[in-house]
Amino acid sequence: MNELDNLAEAARAEFAQAATPADLENAKARYLGKSGRITELMKGMAALSVDEKKTRGAAINLAKQAIESALSQRRQALADAELDAQLKAEALDVSLPGRQRGAGGLHPVSLTLERIEAIFGSMGFEVAEGPEIESDWFNFTALNTPEDHPARSMHDTFYVEGGSAKAPNLLRTHTSPMQIRHAVQHVKRHRAALDAGQGMPEIRVIAPGRTYRVDSDATHSPMFHQCEGLWIGENVSFKDLKVVFTDFCRTFFESGDLVLRFRPSFFPFTEPSAEIDIQFQSGPLAGRWLEVAGSGQVHPNVVRNMGLDPERYIGFAFGMGPDRLTMLRYGVNDLRLFFDGDVRFLSQFR
Ligand code: PHE
Repeated sequence: MNELDNLAEAARAEFAQAATPADLENAKARYLGKSGRITELMKGMAALSVDEKKTRGAAINLAKQAIESALSQRRQALADAELDAQLKAEALDVSLPGRQRGAGGLHPVSLTLERIEAIFGSMGFEVAEGPEIESDWFNFTALNTPEDHPARSMHDTFYVEGGSAKAPNLLRTHTSPMQIRHAVQHVKRHRAALDAGQGMPEIRVIAPGRTYRVDSDATHSPMFHQCEGLWIGENVSFKDLKVVFTDFCRTFFESGDLVLRFRPSFFPFTEPSAEIDIQFQSGPLAGRWLEVAGSGQVHPNVVRNMGLDPERYIGFAFGMGPDRLTMLRYGVNDLRLFFDGDVRFLSQFR
């Protein structure tokens, strides 16, 4: 084997050693680059005679071609290997079972709230929402609640930062502050007509949302839901409350023979007041009286705080517990299940 064959062989061996395209290009430069071995050999021919140049040049060219072909073979081999590795890394096994993405669903209490909104919506009630951090005024004072009422105590109410010592902020303990908030807005919109003695359209609204009390056991959660209802007009009576609420309960529970009982009670913001109990005539809960809401005729002081004349405007309010309605509707016996977030429980309501 002559010197040129050795050179081509050495190049082939070096190319084979190159593990990456960059290594290969470096190896190439050592043979075919500006100061590579082949280029050096070419330069070395300058001193030769014409005949010697012919034979020597042809021999060098053969070696150069051998090196170039070794180079392009190695380039191809490296490119193939890279593609192989990439294909392997991105391999997709189409025989594997698909990854299931579970379909979500609404929370059972959300289902109830939607149901409440739909039913009262069909009876002409608007839906209003309001803040969960309330002022003492809207939550208690405007609702005719005396300074020393036990509901105001730290044992029952979560007080939060902000507000003043005399008028602290708190997490609303019921949705009743929405009676005032909504009515005040309504009255504002119709102020001119009211001042002109023309009256205003009736207030008919429900206000669902989260409420908070210092309380926690199987049937009480520190955060729970309420839905307020308010109907104020010039001629709205307790009879209307009975009709509307009976209609609502029968529709909600899909139970046409469901019976209601209005049991005398007390709330500072209604007079007279009543607890509303329902009784199923069939099914697992048949025969038992179940409390579902507080209600009553809106107290004249509250009507006044709405910016209305209690001599002219009268109506009723009610507050119910959507969590409890959900428990009754689905036969759930522990309220905490609603707030644990256990998918095994929640997925049953899809
Ligand atoms: N806010 C009362 C409660 O939380 C319920 C209620 C609302 C009673 C409206 C009367 C009128 O218990």
